[in-house]
Amino acid sequence: MSVVIDGNKVSQEIRQQLRGETSAFQAQTGIVPGLAVVLVGDDPASQVYVGRKAKACEEIGFLSREYRLSADTSETALLDLIHELNLDSLIHGILVQLPLPKHISTDRIIAAIDPHKDVDGFHPYNVGGLVTGSPLFVPCTPRGIMELLDRTGIALAGKEAVIVGRSNIVGKPMALLLLAQHATVTICHSRTKDLPAVTSRADVLIAAVGKARMITANMVKDNAVVIDVGVNRLENGKLAGDVAFDEVAPKTSFITPVPGGVGPMTIAMLMKNTLDAAIAASKK
Ligand code: GUN
Repeated sequence: MSVVIDGNKVSQEIRQQLRGETSAFQAQTGIVPGLAVVLVGDDPASQVYVGRKAKACEEIGFLSREYRLSADTSETALLDLIHELNLDSLIHGILVQLPLPKHISTDRIIAAIDPHKDVDGFHPYNVGGLVTGSPLFVPCTPRGIMELLDRTGIALAGKEAVIVGRSNIVGKPMALLLLAQHATVTICHSRTKDLPAVTSRADVLIAAVGKARMITANMVKDNAVVIDVGVNRLENGKLAGDVAFDEVAPKTSFITPVPGGVGPMTIAMLMKNTLDAAIAASKK
C-alpha cells in the first residue's frame, strides 16, 4: 500500500514548534531573528517563493526584510547590499533568490555572504562543511527531505538511494546528507546511460531534474520511497512534479505529491536555519 507523505502537515508542525522556540529565545535574549531576502528581477516563480518566505517569517515572529531589485541591477550594487547586510546586527540570515540575471556571477554573490548568515548553505565554507560533516547550515530543500524521511520513519542505513539531478541546490547536497546517514548513493544526470536501469535499483528515489513527469512507472522498483522535488508549470497552468504521480504512486511504499510535498518543507527549513543563525549569533 502506498502512503502519500503530507509535506504541508509536517511543515505546519515544524513551524508551530519554531514559533514556540522563537518566542522563548526572544524572551530570554531580547533578540528577534531577522531574515533578509533579496530578489533581483521579476521572475514570476521567484516572486511567489519570496512572498511565501516573508509570510512564513511573519507567522513565526521573525523580522523579515525584502529587497526587490530591478533586473538591470549591477553586480557591484548587489555586492554592496550584501556587505551592508553582513554588517547589519538585526539581520541573522541572508538569502539571495536564485537564479540571478545572467550578467551577475552567482558564485561571486554567494561567496560574498557571511557564512554565519548563509541560511541557504550555499557558501563554499558551508558546502565544504557539508562534505566533511560539520556545516553551519545545510541547504533547505535537501534538509527538508531528510526531515520528511526521518519523521516518516524511513530508515536509510544500507539502502540504495538514487538521485536524479546534480544541482548545487538539491542533487549534490542531497547525496552528501544521504551518505551521512549510511545510504549507498548514486547521482544520475543527463549523460547517465540507461537511466531506468539505475533508478530501478533505488530503495529511495529522489527526482530533482525540472522535467515534468519524466520519472515513469517502469523506472521505479516496487515499494520504493519516491521523493519529488520538481515544480514544473504545465501549459494548462497547473503544477506537475518530475514524477508521473498517477502511474508511479501505486508501485511505491511512500511518495511525495506536488504541490504539498517537498515545497513547504523548504520554507520550514529556511526558518529553522534562520533561528539557528540568530541563536549562534547570540552566543558570540
Ligand atoms: N531557487 C530555487 N531554490 C532556491 C533556494 O533554496 N534558495 C535560493 N536562494 N534560491 C532558490
